[in-house]
Amino acid sequence: MGAFAGKTIVVTGSGKHKGLGQGILQAFADQGANCVVSDITIDAEAEEVAGELRARGAEVAAIACNVADAEACRALVAETVARFGGVDIFVNNAGIGFRMKPLLEVDPASEWDEVIAVNLSGAFYCTQAAARAMVERGKGGRIINIASQAAKSGFPHLPAYVSSKHGMIGLTRASALELGKHGITVNAVCPNHVTTALGARQNEYFSKLLGFASVEDYLANMAARNPMGRPGLPSDTAAACLWLASDAAFYVTGEALNVSGGEEMH
Ligand SMILES: NC(=O)c1ccc[n+]([C@@H]2O[C@H](COP(=O)([O-])OP(=O)(O)OC[C@H]3O[C@@H](n4cnc5c(N)ncnc54)[C@H](O)[C@@H]3O)[C@@H](O)[C@H]2O)c1
Repeated sequence: MGAFAGKTIVVTGSGKHKGLGQGILQAFADQGANCVVSDITIDAEAEEVAGELRARGAEVAAIACNVADAEACRALVAETVARFGGVDIFVNNAGIGFRMKPLLEVDPASEWDEVIAVNLSGAFYCTQAAARAMVERGKGGRIINIASQAAKSGFPHLPAYVSSKHGMIGLTRASALELGKHGITVNAVCPNHVTTALGARQNEYFSKLLGFASVEDYLANMAARNPMGRPGLPSDTAAACLWLASDAAFYVTGEALNVSGGEEMH
């Protein structure tokens, strides 16, 4: 049955293979949760992610949602409630993290506003929609924001991304304060580098920017600098989400938990 049998989890931006969202849903599927795969479109890849979760025994819905659209976020929650009776765990995972460019060259509309709209405003729209449904149902809930190491430290050529992720921690703290009385905890997880679809594009860019001979050399250097000797994996972030969503973590809210092998310590 599993620790999350009968519970329903929604993860935005979870329709990609090897993504953090897929990893989170796999971990919850293995613990019996009903899973909602959501992404900007439900394409063949997202259908495969959903099919693989069904093969693990989970009840699965695949629902398209552009998180930059507040109405779409409300519809995602409404469809989930209609299908499964409620939302127990909502994970804000959708993100744009591959528009690397020097600060002086960033275009305000396409490279600043769009990133903030998806990474930060999207997390707010979904938090509000999910929290409204949780409050109305009266059974509490868990909201988890997938922030980043870039929520705690600056990184070059990613000003909008870094700003959006720092903002996610503010959203986490503000939401936690207001939602605690409803039995809803709100926490952020801050992973270091993971080679997902998004991460692979960062590898290409930063290995060149920093003068490494290859992506492999760049990743080897990253591993050597990490106290635990490797970059992150989706399963590391998923394990943190399992704990934050558990009854054991009821008294933990407003936190921004580093999952970085010790790379980030504050
Ligand atoms: N990979 C890393 O190194 C790393 C580290 C820390 C945090 N993160 C964060 O983890 C989250 C997941 O990223 P990932 O690395 O698994 O990459 P990914 O590419 O697998 O996931 C990002 C997802 O967001 C979706 N998305 C983009 N715009 C969207 C929109 N408007 N509406 C809905 N979905 C949208 C994409 O389609 C994709 O499925 C992101 O928020 C990212 O910032 C990643």
